[in-house]
Parts: sequence; structure tokens; C-alpha cells
Amino acid sequence: DEKTLHERACAAREKLGERLFIPGHHYQRDEIIAFADASGDSLQLAQSSAQTRADYIVFCGVHFMAETADILTTDEQKVILPDMRAGCSMADMADINQTERAWAALTERFGDTILPLTYVNSTAAIKAFCGRHGGATVTSSNASEMIKEALERKERLLFLPDQHLGRNTAYDLGIPLEQMAVWDPIFERFETEPVSDDIKVILWKGHCSVHEKFTVDYMEKLRAEHADLQVIVHPECSWGVVQAADRDGSTKKIIDTIAAAPSGTTWAIGTEMNLVQRLANTYTDKTIMSLNPNMCPCLTMNRIDLAHFTWCLEELVEGRVVNQITVDEKTAVEARTALDRMLYAFA
Ligand code: 13P
Ligand code: SF4
Repeated sequence: DEKTLHERACAAREKLGERLFIPGHHYQRDEIIAFADASGDSLQLAQSSAQTRADYIVFCGVHFMAETADILTTDEQKVILPDMRAGCSMADMADINQTERAWAALTERFGDTILPLTYVNSTAAIKAFCGRHGGATVTSSNASEMIKEALERKERLLFLPDQHLGRNTAYDLGIPLEQMAVWDPIFERFETEPVSDDIKVILWKGHCSVHEKFTVDYMEKLRAEHADLQVIVHPECSWGVVQAADRDGSTKKIIDTIAAAPSGTTWAIGTEMNLVQRLANTYTDKTIMSLNPNMCPCLTMNRIDLAHFTWCLEELVEGRVVNQITVDEKTAVEARTALDRMLYAFA
């Protein structure tokens, strides 16, 4: 039962001591967050992985985050993902071969005027692609600064793989929707033609299946039921939802906003269920609900559970490294260039 698993995990952690570091993304289950040495959004977790000296990093998040941790740590440090099925459907929407073909078509049309940026929610191969072509990674916390900088360097950018984060952020920076177009990697063409030569932002046709489920219709229903409702959503939500919301922001910004909100206020939050539920349990002086009647779990994040977590730790105690995530050297070096341009300086 859960109590026993919790105790077993505690005992294993105790034995591993300083050799173990456990980053936990805010979307993880409470039973896992209870063990996190650092909980945070994807930017914070990338930074804490870059700093830890632990031998084993048991990464409680999804596959692309564990890859990032492997890229940012030394060869001796081992990164472990408690359940190999914890992927990210958005990251899977940008395949490296599709990306290379898109790049060939786009550079043929627009010449050397495009800089690629990728949301960290992407495979190491896509990060490496961006590193090779002068580009960088971004997260939801710094997408605005990164897009602004990228457009000072090149006339236009290719933003992978989340069209919504790209569109919402570029729009906030004053780029009109007419200067953005969606590249469809399946049909290998723009979603709608003709596309003007003035185009500034080329959006990859990817999305998050969790954040795409929030709708303006349901937001209006909630607003009708709660006169003083304030709505805050993650920028992975569609453009219409972000425009209709009162605020939008990264996971960290959502948490900070709710923490600072006055007692007695009412909020609907458009992001992953575990985080919304945790905020509701933490800030009981405020009314907090999900912006989706069915809550919205990220199924792959939720695959990391106490059973898988305990198993990894107990195997480590026995000297066995299970579910190690490794990125090959060539990919890691190029991906690191893209990550460093985000974490340190765009140089
Ligand atoms: P952030 O942690 O960057 O806000 O991203 C949200 C997310 O969807 C992680 O997979
Ligand atoms: Fe991927 Fe969306 Fe889940 Fe984040 S919430 S891991 S973007 S599927």
C-alpha cells in the first residue's frame, strides 16, 4: 500500500544520501513532490540540474526534461527517469527528419533569414538542430525575451514545436497574426497559402494536448456563475483562450500570482490538474478551480508514481542503475549550445 511504499522510498533515499538529487516538476503527483529536493517549472529544473553534484538524478518529470538534465550534467552523473513511458506528446510532434525537411524548404524560400527557436519541450535532437543553426531553446518563463532577442538577430524565426506558445508570445510582443504562419510537418507546407514575404514568425504545427482542452465557452460559463472570477492560463493554451483570460503566464507566474492574490478572491486556472489541485489545497482562503470541468491531467507526467519511484531508488541502493536517460555526445554538445544561449547569453 502507499504508506509502505512511501516508507520504503524514504529508507532508500536515506541510504543514498547526498549521492541522490530529485528534481520534481510542478505537474507531478503530490506523492512524488513530497520527495522532491527541488520542485519547479522546466526552467528552474534545468538550472538546478546544471548545478547539482549528486551522482544520481532521479528526474520526476517527462523524458525531454531528463534528457536536458543529462546534457547539463557531467558524464559521470547518471540521470534516471522512473517510468520510460513518461514522454510528452508535444515534444513528439517535432521529429528531427521532418524538421530538416522543413528547414530545407523554408531556407530555399526565405534564404538565410531564419533563426530557429525551440521550446524546451522538444527532443534533444531538435535542441541540437537549433544549436547548429545559431538558435536557442526557450521556456514559458523566458519565451518573450528570447523571441525578442531572436528577432533582433534575424528577420524571422521558426518556432518549434508549440504553435500556441509561439503565437501568444509573439502577439504580446506586437507582431500581428498576419505576420505569422503555421508550418504543417505532415503535408510539408504552410497550413494556409499564400504566405506573405513579410512573415516574421513561422510556427510549427504542434500543441499540448492538455492545454488545448481549455475553451472560451467554458470560461464564459464559469464567469456567468462567479461574478468576481479571475482567469489565469498557461501560454500553451490557444490564442482565443489566452485573449479571453485576465492573465497568462508560465507555471511559475501562475503560482506567484495565486500566492500573491488577496484572500477571498476567486480563480479559474488553465493548466495541469496536479498543480491546480495543489494550489487549491494550499490557498484555502481563496476559491480556486480548474478551467476545465474534467480537470485536465497530463497523463504522461502522471506515469511517474510512487511505485516506479521507489523501484528506481531501491535498485540504486543495490548498485543497479535502471531507466538511465543518455543523450549521445554529438547531439548533447549541439543541444548544450542551444541551452547555454538560453541559460547564459545569446552569443
Ligand atoms: P513550464 O514548466 O515551462 O511552465 O512548462 C509547462 C509544461 O507543459 C511542462 O511540460
Ligand atoms: Fe507535454 Fe503538455 Fe504534458 Fe507538458 S503538460 S509534459 S507539454 S503533454
